[in-house]
Amino acid sequence: MPHPLPLLIDTDCGVDDALALAFAFRSPELSVEFITTVAGNVGVSHCTRNVLRIVRLLQPATPPVIARGAKRPLKKKLLTAPEVHGVDGFGGTTIRGTRFLPASLRVGRNAVKTILDACRQHGSRLTIVAVGPLTNLALAVKSNRRLLARAGRIITMGGAMRVPGNTGPVAEFNYFVDPEAADIVLNAGLPVTVIPLDVTEQCVLLAQDLRDVAVRTGSRLARAMVAVTRSYMKYHVRTEGFDGGYLHDPLAVAAVVDPGLLTTLPAQIRVECESPLTRGMTVATFSYGTRSSVFPRVAIGVDQARFKRFFLERIV
Ligand code: RIB
Ligand code: CA
Repeated sequence: MPHPLPLLIDTDCGVDDALALAFAFRSPELSVEFITTVAGNVGVSHCTRNVLRIVRLLQPATPPVIARGAKRPLKKKLLTAPEVHGVDGFGGTTIRGTRFLPASLRVGRNAVKTILDACRQHGSRLTIVAVGPLTNLALAVKSNRRLLARAGRIITMGGAMRVPGNTGPVAEFNYFVDPEAADIVLNAGLPVTVIPLDVTEQCVLLAQDLRDVAVRTGSRLARAMVAVTRSYMKYHVRTEGFDGGYLHDPLAVAAVVDPGLLTTLPAQIRVECESPLTRGMTVATFSYGTRSSVFPRVAIGVDQARFKRFFLERIV
């Protein structure tokens, strides 16, 4: 097996973020070397504590560098999602054995510096997977765009191109929370791939599927994920009529391990920042011309059955 790909995950660690972190750490093709946190699903303190708990649960041989990031969007007032992820981001669940964190798990206080240091250290071998609002990445663009551009790929879960939003009628949550940051990152000429609701809402994990894995394998991780996801799944019973949850953030990680899961097209994307009616809306102009190489690529199709099998095989 070739050397694992170094990964930096930028997260607003709610429930599907936790699934994404577990999936990443359980993927031998990846080496999660950096985790930066950003306010979104929950405040950045809760988010950082959730990351520490997940890392404590997973006990990687080499703990990642963890750094706390932005506690508010660039311009907008922070909006969190307690109705979806719970006030603490984990649906009020405590994961056994992770309350008292070892001193070895230290937390840095400068996510932007951590992101840029990772780019300097790994260059084009680095993949950045951003599964929350893009505040930290936008600050990194402002601080040193050329250094950030050394990263091989930047994958962002966000946006809704040809489907309704999940935060109001037209906006996806991550880009609604910080539309200015999303517009900056998507128009900075960086090697970006966007994983929007168009594909993530085709990827539903049913509560029963996760329970079956936990019972069949007896895996401590799977059992913990059943507990952490319980309230997230009940939210979808009330709002979508199924006992399960969308695998938004895990799909962004899967795009690194198996890019063939996705069909992508280049598109110029602008994010609405001013209108109170359409704040966070992604306006995508799909491009087939020669300039398409400077635009982000947008996932418009996914092999959801293959992805779900892949995910359930590894969340143990
Ligand atoms: O819209 C879904 C996205 O917003 C996911 O990343 C979820 O964790 C929230 O951050
Ligand atoms: Ca997220």
